[in-house]
Amino acid sequence: MNVLVTGGAGYVGSVVVEMLLNEGFDITVADNLIEGHRSALPENINFVKADIGNREVMKQIFRENNIDSVIHMAGETLVSKSMTHPEDYFINNVAKGIELLEAMRETGVKRIIFSSTAALFGNPVFTPITEEHPTEPINTYGRSKLMFEQMLEWYNIIHGLNYVCLRYFNAAGATIDHGEHHSVETHLIPIIMQTALGKRDHVDIYGSDYETRDGTCIRDYIHVADLAMVHVEALRKMDDIGPQKLNLGNGEGYSVKEVIEAARKITGHPIPARISDRRLGDPAVLVASSKRTHTLLGVSFRYPEIQQIVESAWKWHSRNPDGYND
Ligand SMILES: NC(=O)c1ccc[n+]([C@@H]2O[C@H](COP(=O)([O-])OP(=O)(O)OC[C@H]3O[C@@H](n4cnc5c(N)ncnc54)[C@H](O)[C@@H]3O)[C@@H](O)[C@H]2O)c1
Repeated sequence: MNVLVTGGAGYVGSVVVEMLLNEGFDITVADNLIEGHRSALPENINFVKADIGNREVMKQIFRENNIDSVIHMAGETLVSKSMTHPEDYFINNVAKGIELLEAMRETGVKRIIFSSTAALFGNPVFTPITEEHPTEPINTYGRSKLMFEQMLEWYNIIHGLNYVCLRYFNAAGATIDHGEHHSVETHLIPIIMQTALGKRDHVDIYGSDYETRDGTCIRDYIHVADLAMVHVEALRKMDDIGPQKLNLGNGEGYSVKEVIEAARKITGHPIPARISDRRLGDPAVLVASSKRTHTLLGVSFRYPEIQQIVESAWKWHSRNPDGYND
């Protein structure tokens, strides 16, 4: 299989690439490096610095490398920024997404795995969230991802494009070689790690008056290596299972305070925390039911415990205090 990974120099992408290489896939990575890191990829990998919105370049990549499948991870990813700069989300995640789909159509590439998100569900009306849960996003990030999913439905009906949308809940943790390093960090676990390393003086807790067991938001954290393994299985099985939208989480929720507490035990650092205002577009609880993912793809997770996730992040961050240092 010849696989193109868009956004492969990013956090999740670098781990997906690591796993695909371990499993012997032939891969090409296209990333514009707006957020990703070239040094998160092996030096000898087939890497093209390219923007998914450039249809002609993408077509050339597909043709030159005989690409038959795409893992599409490139995009804008921050919920908070999506509520101040919605245009970036509609341009990068939707408009440029159309260019990518058209490049695929024009070169006959018929399989895509898409990095979707729990943010498309909006405020849960029941929990854990199954695939049947209504999709009413409360931020433009979730809306832009939902729009791309909807385009995939029509490309499937009209052009026979096969797709698997993997709706990640919170990707977290690290492998030995790859961890989370964003230019503007908004994710809880890397912020906690930076605090434990003395790079920040505290962690902000956005809201302590949610209707949850300790008043702070509850999220479902899935280890990035488990998440990457699901991509590999989805690639292997997508011809048999057909178009799918699958939830991808652990089925277990942890509050912000609980994650901080776990990190205090693992790092031995007091990790000071401060209560701040709620952020716009943050639901109180997001916990997945990933039953369908497990059943359809026959996967089980290796690192389901929050302690394992935080421990792996701590190992990577303490070895790489400046991240990829580029
Ligand atoms: N990290 C999470 O918890 C999480 C949760 C749900 C969904 N997702 C989705 O998973 C994917 C990966 O997330 P991540 O945390 O690794 O993000 P990331 O920002 O680390 O990686 C995204 C990569 O895409 C690249 N990119 C962005 N726009 C591009 C474009 N137009 N052309 C080419 N490359 C481009 C960036 O340079 C970066 O390397 C994203 O699509 C994100 O929306 C992530």
